[in-house]
Amino acid sequence: MQDPVFVQRAFSRIADRYVLTNHVLSMGTDILWRKKVARIVAERAPERLLDLATGSGDLAAEIAKKCPGTEIVGADFCQPMLNHARKRGLSNLIVADGLQLPFDSGVFDVVTVAFGLRNMADWPGAIKEMRRVLRPSGALIILDFSLPRGFLGPPYGVYLNHVLPRMAGVLTGQREAYDYLSKSVGAFPSGANMEALLRDCGFGDAASEPLSFGIASVYLGTLPVTDS
Ligand SMILES: C[S@@+](CC[C@H](N)C(=O)[O-])C[C@H]1O[C@@H](n2cnc3c(N)ncnc32)[C@H](O)[C@@H]1O
Repeated sequence: MQDPVFVQRAFSRIADRYVLTNHVLSMGTDILWRKKVARIVAERAPERLLDLATGSGDLAAEIAKKCPGTEIVGADFCQPMLNHARKRGLSNLIVADGLQLPFDSGVFDVVTVAFGLRNMADWPGAIKEMRRVLRPSGALIILDFSLPRGFLGPPYGVYLNHVLPRMAGVLTGQREAYDYLSKSVGAFPSGANMEALLRDCGFGDAASEPLSFGIASVYLGTLPVTDS
């Protein structure tokens, strides 16, 4: 669970280099991960979707391509990140804190959050708030980093903790933000732990899938048909 003042400041500082740095550090894999989420969204053909922590709008733009009929709302508490989302053509954007969303209950069919929940101050609180704005049988899709198991674990640990912060420091001039990234990934629940958290927060059904050997994971929580 993270300090919101630090997180907001860190994203304001890296906003101009955020997209490029992501693509370099992940060697473009982050694009494939977001395409995967967009495919999962498309299967549900939502009328109305909230992309929380939309940032520069990378995921929202990918979903817009796949689901042209879906009304997409992007929310983020960092205006400089949203400025980049606007530049790439997204218009339905709102400055909002994920822990206190300015929407009525039950108004979205799907909520997505990519690389955002991990940065929030209260993970169960944020998941419950996302649940609140979902209609019964609605779905929450979370994409975030996780740690690969097995043979890839140790070399990836070296990359995440030592190589990535240095490279990102050179690209953005903000090494501190990426030291934080490395630490936050280790502390964030993944796999069965995230599924359990989703169930504890009221999602009747929860599933997870590791991507790229577990460097990232996608989680799908589905609400019961009648939400209480
Ligand atoms: C790593 S970026 C992810 C951006 C985008 N979803 C993507 O896939 O590239 C994380 C975003 O989460 C936002 N964020 C973090 N905590 C938040 C909160 N409590 N409420 C709203 N946005 C938040 C940050 O401002 C930042 O834009």
